[in-house]
Amino acid sequence: MTALAPAAPALVCRGLRKRYGSVVAVDLLDLEVRVGECFGLLGPNGAGKTTTVEILEGLLQPDEGEVEVLGLRWGTDDGALRQRLGIQLQETQLNEKLAVEEIVRLFRSFYRKGPSVGRVLEMVELESKRRSWVGKLSGGQKQRLAVACALVNDPDLLFLDEPTTGLDPQSRRQLWSLLDGFRARGGTILLTTHYMDEAQALCDRVAIVDRGRVIALGTPRELVASLGAEHVVEFAVDGHAEVSGDALAGLPGVTAARVDGGTIRLRVTEPHVVVPALLAELARQGLKLARFAVHQATLEDVFVAHTGRNLRDE
Ligand SMILES: Nc1ncnc2c1ncn2[C@@H]1O[C@H](COP(=O)(O)OP(=O)(O)O)[C@@H](O)[C@H]1O
Ligand SMILES: [Mg+2]
Repeated sequence: MTALAPAAPALVCRGLRKRYGSVVAVDLLDLEVRVGECFGLLGPNGAGKTTTVEILEGLLQPDEGEVEVLGLRWGTDDGALRQRLGIQLQETQLNEKLAVEEIVRLFRSFYRKGPSVGRVLEMVELESKRRSWVGKLSGGQKQRLAVACALVNDPDLLFLDEPTTGLDPQSRRQLWSLLDGFRARGGTILLTTHYMDEAQALCDRVAIVDRGRVIALGTPRELVASLGAEHVVEFAVDGHAEVSGDALAGLPGVTAARVDGGTIRLRVTEPHVVVPALLAELARQGLKLARFAVHQATLEDVFVAHTGRNLRDE
């Protein structure tokens, strides 16, 4: 047995590639997830997130590339790996006519060690639903049950694929706090999401993925800081008038200007300086505002800066 060095990462992959016919779903992707962190793959639908995690989970074979999980490899250490991983798939189909506790007991029986069924239900706040049929649960409760099934073996590494898609805000927060609890017990998380606020709220580090590649990597704070601007001014003008991006980019305090269809986005350091100058410039060009907003720069803006598209557009 090779002991895991203290600084060894929880997960490493290098040069991953996966094709489906002519579609390259994952294209030379590298990742490193550290022990104890919550790492997020953030990207639009079709970016290759699910394909990537399914390779890392040992469910799909890559065409090329190397994967090491907890210092072990798929193909040689599968049994040992399965005991130490928790997996929540993008879509979980559980038998609707089984009770919540029966499902958890079933999943618990697959593993040598782990908390009691009662303790797992407590972690996911489903004690009051233990005798309810799965078919009677709300979306948020079903999703917490799916996470419960991933926690039955007290995993070292938890994979979550779009854990909060389709959930209402309260269920989302409940799931987030459940993940905080897992982190507090020393667990490592790799999650995928297309919600930038989720990545910003949960993740220590984020890899922004687009078209099967990592296009930006860092803490949410570092990624936003890499824009070189703390705020984004976003506006549109009436009609189909041409706006001169060059004139806007030259305004004091503007770091970058992007004209994207009818929407113009300015990355700015000092909104109180830019906004009056911008309004004066639009008046000079004879343009009227149709929309106008200023917001703090987010991971969404990082994605736009790298790709020229919105996360939600896909
Ligand atoms: N089983 C499959 N067969 C063919 N194409 C697939 C299959 N799974 C995924 N794809 C394609 O691979 C790309 C990446 O998909 P996916 O990994 O599901 O992305 P994401 O999870 O980021 O939405 C998409 O273009 C998708 O249509
Ligand atoms: Mg997916």
